[in-house]
Amino acid sequence: MSALPISSSTDAPIKAATTVLGLREMQLSGRPIVMVTAYDHPSAEIADAAGVDVILVGDSAAMVVLGHESTVSITMDEMLMLAAAVRRGASRALIVGDMPFGSYEASDQIAIANAQRFVKEAGCDAVKLEGGGTSAARARAIVDSGIPVMGHIGLTPQTATALGGYRAQGRTAEAARSVIADAKRLEEAGCFSVVIECVPAAVTELITDAIDIPTIGIGAGPSTSGQVLVYHDLLGLRSGKNAKFVRTYADLRGAAIEAVSAYSTDVRSGSYPGPEHMYSIEPGELSDLQRLPASD
Ligand code: KIV
Repeated sequence: MSALPISSSTDAPIKAATTVLGLREMQLSGRPIVMVTAYDHPSAEIADAAGVDVILVGDSAAMVVLGHESTVSITMDEMLMLAAAVRRGASRALIVGDMPFGSYEASDQIAIANAQRFVKEAGCDAVKLEGGGTSAARARAIVDSGIPVMGHIGLTPQTATALGGYRAQGRTAEAARSVIADAKRLEEAGCFSVVIECVPAAVTELITDAIDIPTIGIGAGPSTSGQVLVYHDLLGLRSGKNAKFVRTYADLRGAAIEAVSAYSTDVRSGSYPGPEHMYSIEPGELSDLQRLPASD
């Protein structure tokens, strides 16, 4: 493997590191906020070089990179390892660590301690947590401890079973009222932004009108302050059917399978490695070596 740094000769404009306040300025100036997930060093480098504003080290890593059935299995230690790798790969984007299931629900103290680990051990700028009920109290406690918090409402995958599975939320008047109330609670708790996942576009508009903080949508229509997609979805790296809201911008899975197949063919045919992949030894050194007694 080459240890040479990847050239960052992208056309993305050079920009200063994103801050929480910067996101609010973007919202006020009408410049959409771009957020993407990343779970490792190379994906963070790519997202940063592409000029995204926010990188979310999402607990979707459980499914996307660790192969679990749901997001609930991922642990704090696993999230911290991924977040630290992302931090090392990104210097401009705001890095948000996603608090995994079980890391914040039990008490304010546990929530603060785990949020602090994201900042101290992984270098995250902020954390995200799911839900608007008791989660709003946890968000308040973390904000009061000095760590910026992003909320997450609508479809909250950590509690998908209780919500009736991975399905759109807020599709009845009563359910929509409850999602709007969650948004308000999170704003009151001091969250700097809120993710709205899988909610009808018309309900998202009401949420966006009801709160002042930036909203980031995923399957929530166009009226949010920004959008987020899972890195592997937008690059076409995953097998199987994507959710309705995903737009795929590349077929990297197809390209990767083709490339690894071509490598396999070359190894099997003997055409790899070629002369250009080999190291040489001076002929004199080689004859010296041949004269030396065999080593043990
Ligand atoms: O974990 C994740 O990827 C997320 C996004 C879908 C918002 O929470």
